[in-house]
Amino acid sequence: MDVTRHKASISSTFDRAAATFDASPVDFFAPIGHRLVATAGTADGEHVLDIGCGRGSCLFPASAAVGPTGSVTGIDISPAMILHTATEVQARGLTNVTVIEMDAENPDFPPESFDLALGSFSVMHLPAAPAVLGKYLPLLRPTGRLWFTDLIDKDGLPPFVPPAAFAVLVPYFPPGPNPRERGTDGWSATEQRIVDALTSLGFVRAEVREATYSMSVGSGANWIAWSMSTGLRAAWDNVPPAELPRVESAVVDVIDEMRNAAGEIIFPVPVRYIGARRPD
Ligand SMILES: C[S@@+](CC[C@H](N)C(=O)[O-])C[C@H]1O[C@@H](n2cnc3c(N)ncnc32)[C@H](O)[C@@H]1O
Repeated sequence: MDVTRHKASISSTFDRAAATFDASPVDFFAPIGHRLVATAGTADGEHVLDIGCGRGSCLFPASAAVGPTGSVTGIDISPAMILHTATEVQARGLTNVTVIEMDAENPDFPPESFDLALGSFSVMHLPAAPAVLGKYLPLLRPTGRLWFTDLIDKDGLPPFVPPAAFAVLVPYFPPGPNPRERGTDGWSATEQRIVDALTSLGFVRAEVREATYSMSVGSGANWIAWSMSTGLRAAWDNVPPAELPRVESAVVDVIDEMRNAAGEIIFPVPVRYIGARRPD
């Protein structure tokens, strides 16, 4: 994998997604970020880092949890994400939040800056994970925590991407790493591998908690709007305008066919909440 090109492509995809990220009628990143902040036990007065903060699914609940004596620093590789989030921080009048454009694979902070490092659906985008997580150990104070979320793929696809919809979009993915390459043999494929990887980096008390998020999609059109907040955007942006109506209608049909007896479209999405600590 050409890492530089891969990161440039991720940054540009999220730049294009930033203005409307997770703003469709489908709730996903915000409730899971909220849960991550609570699961990590984010407390009054703590100094928190949010890795790959995006539009603030963790940043804003963490800001409320740490209060005026704490602080939250968000980093993201996408300049547009940082711009939009900085504007929102200002609009909300938050004085305990700072956002910085930074590659999470090269975190640049003084040692022992943070009590807690969070990352919701961002560590999964780091090509050098899990090894790169070792760089966060010295940035945490003794007993400081790392908490992040990850998806449990099924046949190489996240559970919110029906294979039939993926099949429609596959021809439009730009050249680059296969979106299904996470595979079944990676470091995050099983809970035991995750715990072993974090332990071998020097973290202690590594743990994985799994909780299923019931993603209510509403309609195929909603799902398409929401998918613009994910890596699928790379494919959508590549569909020639003349083909867009056909592709959209094929995807809408596939998703709308998934209605249950109550008329709802619900994707159960198992999410891993992964935690570990720096030793004393
Ligand atoms: C799926 S979004 C999640 C955003 C946010 N944490 C949330 O839960 O809504 C992934 C985020 O990670 C960021 N990201 C990906 N690779 C990164 C890197 N190398 N360094 C910093 N941020 C990165 C993306 O720009 C994007 O904002």
